[in-house]
Amino acid sequence: MLSPSNINDPELVALASKILADSGFDIRQYKERPLKRRLAVRMRSCQVSSYEEYRQKLKDDPGEYIKLLDALTINVTKFYRNAETYLAVFDRVLPIILEESKSSPVRIWSAGCSSGEEPYSLAIMWREFSQARGLAMDCNIYATDIDLRILEKAQAGIYPRSSMDEIPQNLAGKYFEVRNDKYHISPQIKDMVKFDKLDLFSRYPHSELDLIFCRNVLIYFSRQTQEDIFYKFAQALRAGGFLVLGKVENMFGQMKDTFASFDVKERIYRAVK
Ligand SMILES: C[S@@+](CC[C@H](N)C(=O)[O-])C[C@H]1O[C@@H](n2cnc3c(N)ncnc32)[C@H](O)[C@@H]1O
Repeated sequence: MLSPSNINDPELVALASKILADSGFDIRQYKERPLKRRLAVRMRSCQVSSYEEYRQKLKDDPGEYIKLLDALTINVTKFYRNAETYLAVFDRVLPIILEESKSSPVRIWSAGCSSGEEPYSLAIMWREFSQARGLAMDCNIYATDIDLRILEKAQAGIYPRSSMDEIPQNLAGKYFEVRNDKYHISPQIKDMVKFDKLDLFSRYPHSELDLIFCRNVLIYFSRQTQEDIFYKFAQALRAGGFLVLGKVENMFGQMKDTFASFDVKERIYRAVK
């Protein structure tokens, strides 16, 4: 169970309760200022000026829920986003995972995967790693997001050129087919990734994971919610499993009994054994 945030405006609390009851989505877990800013965008576009009126709008037009979710979830992503992080994982994390996982398939979770660039990058990285070592070892990549529409895009695996800015050119040539200026991910990579809808505020179905990528997602959540999620990640990882955050995200000091820092610059942590 996640702790409620410090939102105390009664109209906003009532709105949050309605959204939670109708859709199961708990907006109180988001940071208050960005939450209010994004709600304001939706309210302007619905031409209402109070949370009470917006609550009525949601009652009259349940289709507004989709637009609200779109406004709250920021889907920006890229292949090999911050390529230096992928390089650090390739050089220093995968060899440890290989050594520790013995012969069982490697298990990786991309939490908040957006349109799929991140989990497909992880699949490409594992392919490159295992091919370079002549391994035939399987790797299962679970990719989840709360946004069903973005997951459909992920499953299609077709991308604009702008998604390809950071991926090394040789990998773009090897794992994509270009048709009509769109990049189609190769079927061998597609088959490695399983997409599912999952709200990070809910329970996680994963355990004994080797690696979690959760990048540029937690930054939107309240501090208490981030902390709760870190604990749940620790439960989902095997002892010594790795967690990689976004370049501007940090693990708080009080998590040091749960996670140890592995690479400060690349925001890589290990679940304490
Ligand atoms: C900025 S994208 C990050 C994509 C990718 N991880 C990256 O770093 O490039 C943030 C993603 O988090 C998802 N998200 C937001 N709130 C969520 C929640 N409560 N549960 C699961 N995913 C959520 C959004 O739908 C969005 O696709």
